[in-house]
Amino acid sequence: MSENSPVLGIIGGSGLYQFPGLTDTAQVEVETPFGAPSAPVITGTLAGKRVAFLARHGLGHTLTPTEVNYRANIYALKSLGVRRVLGVSAVGSLREDYAPGHLIVPNQLIDFTRKRASSFFGEGLVAHVGVPDPFCPDFSELTYQAISSTDAMTHQGGTLVTIEGPRFSTRAESHLFRSWGVSLIGMTACPEAFLAREAGLCYATIAHVTDYDVWHQSEEPVSVEMVIQTLHRSLHIVQEAILSLLESLDAEPTCGCESSLEKALITNPSHIPP
Ligand code: ADE
Repeated sequence: MSENSPVLGIIGGSGLYQFPGLTDTAQVEVETPFGAPSAPVITGTLAGKRVAFLARHGLGHTLTPTEVNYRANIYALKSLGVRRVLGVSAVGSLREDYAPGHLIVPNQLIDFTRKRASSFFGEGLVAHVGVPDPFCPDFSELTYQAISSTDAMTHQGGTLVTIEGPRFSTRAESHLFRSWGVSLIGMTACPEAFLAREAGLCYATIAHVTDYDVWHQSEEPVSVEMVIQTLHRSLHIVQEAILSLLESLDAEPTCGCESSLEKALITNPSHIPP
């Protein structure tokens, strides 16, 4: 980390970083032990602070949620000195009061992914990181205050289930998640949040509701068109929230995210008897 390290890493759609006020931009090609991230990292200055943007699905949206190299993305941001990562994601809503167009900062995750490399550990390096609260509570609070400063309807908390995709859910799946009290459904928060925790980074999500999935009696089942239209309509609101979030990021993190590995490493060299 250096003086010039970005204070915020943002993983989201490529449209997100067409900020009118983004200056001093650079495209940084980062190589990682896990391969290349989804795209070059775009660094720049916004509201007087250094930021780093990463297009989760690639610059031309060429990667499915399964194909995204989540490990390389998190590694790349960490290697640039980022300590807080904001994931911005389109989600479906599984409850009436979280309506399309609303912004949510969820506080819990259920992982229904099946085909993703979801840990930095393995191959001789063993660790079991704790994720009872998978999002950084402090950073999530700042993120919620930031979205609340916009004109959007916002909500704090809720469980987000991550499905493998790329298909959407069946009605039976959607009703099952609802019966479990799940609020939101998406395809990318896992393993992004878990990898951020393993990397000792603070992670929060802005979940952008684009549809009512497929459970709603009077609403059309989710379609790609629906998702894209809602996202485009409120892109500027998310940008506004990011600007507001940046203004609140002066203090050093005081949560425990950075020391997530302290009690998690099994094959830490200091644990191995001489
Ligand atoms: N992303 C946006 N809407 C979604 C939905 N209904 N299911 C999964 N991912 C989504």
